[in-house]
This record gives sequence, structure tokens and C-alpha cells, in this order.
Amino acid sequence: MMKRRIVAGVAAFGIAIALAGCSAGGRGATGSGDGGGDNKGALVGVAMPTKVSERWIKDGDAVKSDLEKAGYKVDLEYGDNKVQQQAQQVSNMITKGAKVLIIASIDGGALSDQLDQAAKAGIKVISYDRLLTGNKNVDYYVSFDNYKVGVDQATSLLTGLGVVDADGKKTGKKGPFNIEVFAGSLDDNNAGFFFNGAMDTLKPYLEDGTLKIGSGQDQLSQAATQQWDPATAKARMQNLVASTYSGGTKLDGVLSPYDGMSIGIISALQGAGYGSGDRPLPIVTGQDAEAASVKSIIAGQQYSTIYKDTRKLAKQSVTMAEDLLTGKTPETNDDKSYDNKVKVVPTYLFQPTVVTKDNYKEVLVDSGYYTEADLK
Ligand code: BGC
Repeated sequence: MMKRRIVAGVAAFGIAIALAGCSAGGRGATGSGDGGGDNKGALVGVAMPTKVSERWIKDGDAVKSDLEKAGYKVDLEYGDNKVQQQAQQVSNMITKGAKVLIIASIDGGALSDQLDQAAKAGIKVISYDRLLTGNKNVDYYVSFDNYKVGVDQATSLLTGLGVVDADGKKTGKKGPFNIEVFAGSLDDNNAGFFFNGAMDTLKPYLEDGTLKIGSGQDQLSQAATQQWDPATAKARMQNLVASTYSGGTKLDGVLSPYDGMSIGIISALQGAGYGSGDRPLPIVTGQDAEAASVKSIIAGQQYSTIYKDTRKLAKQSVTMAEDLLTGKTPETNDDKSYDNKVKVVPTYLFQPTVVTKDNYKEVLVDSGYYTEADLK
């Protein structure tokens, strides 16, 4: 009896999968799992990587509130930068019956089992900011132009050093300037895009001798920072100061890909005497316009950051989810740049904005991203 019930259950499950498989087959009018109005008030699973960095808290809050405003139920989870924890959270969302998953991964290649399960159950997957890799069951990607972020970071380093002017034109200033370069986490697909965008931009200046990477550590593998960890970046900066800049050689610039790391790098430099007496802090870049870094920029420590309006990203991911749940085809604007090693994932990209002391008010305060008080 018991056995027969299990068999029947398995058979029913098989049919459900087959049905879901059918209806999920094509995009457009019938493109969304259950299709049409059945998905009203459906559950959407939202997986975010960590609360250590302020930006992901803003992302999570914005996605949740936009989904709720649109009438959906939300399961928002943070993975605490633990790959297994995030995998478990995504599995739970599938079990709970989520119809769409919006995932900002910790390790982009570590959720393959979950993506396979999701596809079997007819659940659509939107890769949020960080591309999910190594699996075909990634339906859409929404992010900022990550290569351009790297270009902008490097350009602001050049501007800060006075090598190019505000319009991006060469000033003729020849240095030579000593710089060091940092990169993000290798399990995050974005890290390579940022680094390549930046290094392609710096290349001509490295080749003509305007810039010199003092340590010689110019490879992504040497510059990478596991999980974008500020303490790891700080330790590497301390080591670089000890190995390369202790004998009076001046460090003029540091390419940092993320604000949290920039804070760690600046703290290492201050510990080594930079930022006081006749040793100014080098030009240090960043990303995310996190409040602590914007304050540091206002105080004249960090030079620049890259603003990526998380409200826009959140809104777009929610529009995509709604389209998928109501049988529409989500809008994309880049269907060639993001190959996840198995397929090119249709993408919607936003453009980043460089922020320095000169424009932070206009870009961050006037747009309502921060109030003046947030930055005090
Ligand atoms: C994001 C960046 C962020 C970094 C560290 C990247 O995937 O695109 O905005 O600085 O992760 O959290």
C-alpha cells in the first residue's frame, strides 16, 4: 500500500515535471513556467551573497520591496559568503515552490545542481549582477557593463595621477608613477571583466613607461582577492609596502576593484605612514559608492569609486521576473558579451558612473541614493 502510494507520487511528480518542461520550452507568449495569470502572488526566491558589504543589503532590500509592491511573495536569503549555505538556501527556495529565482552568487559555478533542479521544476533563473557559470539553465542576466567598470576604474586612476584630464585626454605628464593593482574574487565572473577592462586601459601607459607596477605583480592570479575580502587586501598591501616600497620608493596609485578592499588598502597604507607628513596617500580607486568610501572620498583619502545604482538593477530584475511570470519575453540589450562557458546568457546591462569628490553631490545626493546626513 505504502509502496504503491510512493510509486503513484513519483509518477505524478514525473508528469508535473513533463508538463512544466513543455510549457517552459519556448519564450514569448507561452514562455513562463505556468504561464499567464496563474502566477499571481507567486513566490520569488532571492539569493544574495553577503551582508558584509552594504551594497548587497541595498540590493536585497530593493528587490524585495519592488517584488512585494508588484504583489509577489519573497524569500530573501543571504549566504554569508559561504558557498554551501547559499546552495542550501537556493535548494530550499525550490522546495518551497518559488517560480522564479533571482541569484547573486558567491561562487558563480557552484550552484549547478540547484540550476538543474530549478529547470526540471520549470523555475526560471535570473542571474543578478554576477553571472552564474557552467550551466545552461540560466535564463537571463542583469548587471552593469562590467568591462566598462574596469575601464572607468583605470581611467579615474589616470585622472587622479594627472596623466589624463577630465575629458580623458593625455596631459603629457610622464611620471613615471609607481602603481599596484588589485583584483576581485576569481570565483566571481565579474572579477576578470573588471581587471581586463582596467588593464587594457592602463596597458599603453605601462608600455610607454608612464606607469610602472613596482612589484611586477600584473597578473589576475597575483592580484586576485578571494571573496573580495578587505582584510586579505590589507594584508597584501602591507606585504607590497614591505617588499617594494620600504626603501624610499614612492607608491603613487592603487587600482582597487571594490570599496571594501579600498578601505583595507588605505588602512595598510596609513599604518605604513602614508597620508601624513610629506607622504600623501596614493590615488586609490574603488567600486560601489558605499557610504564609508564616499566619506573617505570627501575626506580626501580614497580618490574615486564607481557608482552602480542598485535601485535600477533591482527594478530591472523584478521587471524581468514579472515578465517571466506573466508570459512575456524580458527585454535585453546585450546578447553577446556574457558567455557562461555553456551558453551566452541574454543580458540587460546598465552603465556605471565614476564618482569623485567633484561630483559626489550631484550623482549620489541629488539622485536620492544618499542624503547629505548619510555621508556625514
Ligand atoms: C560586484 C561589485 C562588488 C563586488 C564585491 C561584484 O560582483 O559587481 O559591485 O564590488 O562583487 O562585492
